Amino acid sequence: MENLTISLDKIYDFVKKDQIKGFKKDLEKHNKSLTDKTGKGNDFLGWVDLPSSISEKELKDIQKTANYLKNNVEVVVVIGIGGSYLGAKAVNDALLHSFDILHTSKNPVVLYAGQNLSEDYLFELLEVLKDLSYAIIVISKSGTTTEPAVAFRLLKKQLECQLTKLEVQKRIIAITDESKGALKQLADQEGYKTYVIPDNVGGRYSVLTPVGLLPIAVAGFDIKKLVEGAKKMEELTSVDVKFEDNPAAQYAAARNALYASNKLVEIMVNYNPKLHFLAEWWKQLYGESEGKEGKGIFPASVDFTTDLHSMGQYVQDGQRILFETVLTVANSKHKLIVPKDKEDLDSLNFLSGKRIDEVNKKAEEGTILAHIAGGVPVIKIEIPELNEYYLGQLIYFFEKACALSGYLLNVNPFDQPGVEAYKKNMFILLKKPGYENQKI
Ligand code: PA5
Repeated sequence: MENLTISLDKIYDFVKKDQIKGFKKDLEKHNKSLTDKTGKGNDFLGWVDLPSSISEKELKDIQKTANYLKNNVEVVVVIGIGGSYLGAKAVNDALLHSFDILHTSKNPVVLYAGQNLSEDYLFELLEVLKDLSYAIIVISKSGTTTEPAVAFRLLKKQLECQLTKLEVQKRIIAITDESKGALKQLADQEGYKTYVIPDNVGGRYSVLTPVGLLPIAVAGFDIKKLVEGAKKMEELTSVDVKFEDNPAAQYAAARNALYASNKLVEIMVNYNPKLHFLAEWWKQLYGESEGKEGKGIFPASVDFTTDLHSMGQYVQDGQRILFETVLTVANSKHKLIVPKDKEDLDSLNFLSGKRIDEVNKKAEEGTILAHIAGGVPVIKIEIPELNEYYLGQLIYFFEKACALSGYLLNVNPFDQPGVEAYKKNMFILLKKPGYENQKI
């Protein structure tokens, strides 16, 4: 079976091969310290061997809960923010029918809440849920994050008005810390089924725990295959693999070499809108892991060819601080051919007989060449198909590369001290008890 591949050919006009090789020793050392759990933030390295350590029993239990929800409700609302929802949203969006908004699948519609504080969003969500049968998966590792807590309070209240206490109990699943936090306390008191986010797995590295697996299984996708793919990537990026053959080490080396050459912004590029949220997940992973101590590549993203008509100008011609990572899917799932037209009034017959994917791939090829000529180096990551197995590979690949890259930058890739600053100010402004004597 094929695997994810990385190609660095298109960066060598900008950095020398020796610069990449120059990271070899350090990356081998960092990979070892991830395995031995001796590096910075080593109390948050539970994700490293998650794919190979998750048991059949755990997966079965998650699937059983998902099946119960699938058989009993029309909608499942996943409440969470940041690492507590982006992974599930990324995988579900990548695999769902593009027009699932019209509810094309037999599985429950998965909606998301607690990822913003918009009154309109929450009002309208409660409004649509009024006439539907729904369940809630509430996810918060700390159990105290304001956005999901507010959304949960509202949705829980509404559910309690619609159903008996016993029915509500069956419709709410909490995923949180084993013992700490308000959500854990509440879940125990109300008797909800709970899943644990392991202590040693941070939010943005938690997609292969129940945090991601349960909402993905609810949407009807094969979590076993997802984990299998991740497990394969765990092998392909292990300490036993040579630097030259380790895709995560190659990616970490390439982006750090580019960063050292003043390429300060990395744009994750896709040519398939299904991957939009994978880039959102990736932005959180890299932004929160590396953006600290005044350092770090700024992670951005675009959906091409859509954004070639908006951001394309800047990428081609703006400040030369950019590099691109193009995430490409070798084979599209469906086949669609441009039809021939007798009159050819739209002058498109030069495309007739070609698959849409071929046109898309030529757009990709042409854009890459144009951007390189314009001073934008391109890293290319390719998966054979968009399915659970390769998404599993992709997730673990990005996680491993992020940790290695953070270590190269000499930061702790597993904390996020900067996220607290806005919370403190918000709590002072909202007069949260305990914040009376603090100043903005
Ligand atoms: O990666 C992280 O740790 C964060 O993005 C968290 O996932 C996010 O802040 C949500 O936190 P919690 O799950 O505690 O509600």
